[in-house]
Amino acid sequence: MFNKQKKKSTVNRNKKLIASLSPKSPISEQYRTIRTNIQFASIDYEIQSIMVTSAEPGAGKSTTSANLAVVFAQQGKRVLIIDSDLRKPTLHHIFKVHNNDGLTSVLMKSKQLEEVIVPTNEPNVFLLTSGPIPPNPAELLISKAMKFIYNKVIHEYDLVIFDTPPILAVTDSQIVSHYCDGTIIVVASEQTKKEQLKKGIELLNFSKARIVGTVLNNKKLSNHDNHYYYYS
Ligand SMILES: Nc1ncnc2c1ncn2[C@@H]1O[C@H](COP(=O)(O)OP(=O)(O)OP(=O)(O)O)[C@@H](O)[C@H]1O
Ligand SMILES: [Mg+2]
Repeated sequence: MFNKQKKKSTVNRNKKLIASLSPKSPISEQYRTIRTNIQFASIDYEIQSIMVTSAEPGAGKSTTSANLAVVFAQQGKRVLIIDSDLRKPTLHHIFKVHNNDGLTSVLMKSKQLEEVIVPTNEPNVFLLTSGPIPPNPAELLISKAMKFIYNKVIHEYDLVIFDTPPILAVTDSQIVSHYCDGTIIVVASEQTKKEQLKKGIELLNFSKARIVGTVLNNKKLSNHDNHYYYYS
C-alpha cells in the first residue's frame, strides 16, 4: 500500500515545473540565467514585480512564469505568483491546487486576500489563482481594487510574478504591464511571427511597459531532442 502511494506521488510530480523536478538540468540552468539577467536589468531600479506575456497564445507564458517563480524562490526569495490570465487560467493546474476562489473572488469582495493566497509544494512560492472566470477581465484588472491588491502584495513578498493572456488577443496584459516593474516577452521558436512580436512590443510600449527582456522558448538544438530556453 505504502509503495503504491509512493509510486503515484512520483508519477504525479509536475513535469512543467522542471526547475523544481530537475534543478540540475540544462533547462533549469537556463531559467537561472533568465533570473540572473533580470537581476542585472534591475541594478539601477529594483524589480519587485514582473509580468510574463507573449504576443500570441501558447508561447509558454505560464510555464515560464511558474519556473521563474521556482528559481527565484530557490534563492531564498518569498515569491508570489498571480494568475492574472482571467480568461484561460492554468497556474492552478501547474501547481496542483484548487481554483474555486482566487483573484476574482477578492476583486468581487467575496473573499479576503489572505484567504485565497495559498502556499505551494515549492518552498517560498505562494500562489494566487485566478478564481472564477469573470465576464469582464479587463475592467477587473484596471480597477481600484486591483491596485489595492497590488500595493498590498508588493510589500509582503520579495517578488510578485504575473502570468497574463497574450498581448495581441486582449488588452489585459497591457493593463497589468502598466503597473509592473518589468515585463518579459516569451517568444516561441518557429511559432511567434516577427510581425506579431513587433505589434506586441508596440502595444506594450504604448502602455509604458518596461520590457526587461525576451525569453526564446521551445528552441530545439539540432543534435539534441531537448527543449532549451534562451534569454536576450
Ligand atoms: N519549452 C517547452 N518545452 C516543452 N513544452 C513546453 C515548453 N513550453 C511550454 N510547453 C508546453 O506548451 C503548452 C503551452 O504552454 P503554456 O501553457 O506555458 O503557454 P501559454 O503561453 O501560457 O499559453 P496560453 O496563451 O494558452 O496561456 C503547455 O502544454 C506546456 O506544457
Ligand atoms: Mg497561459
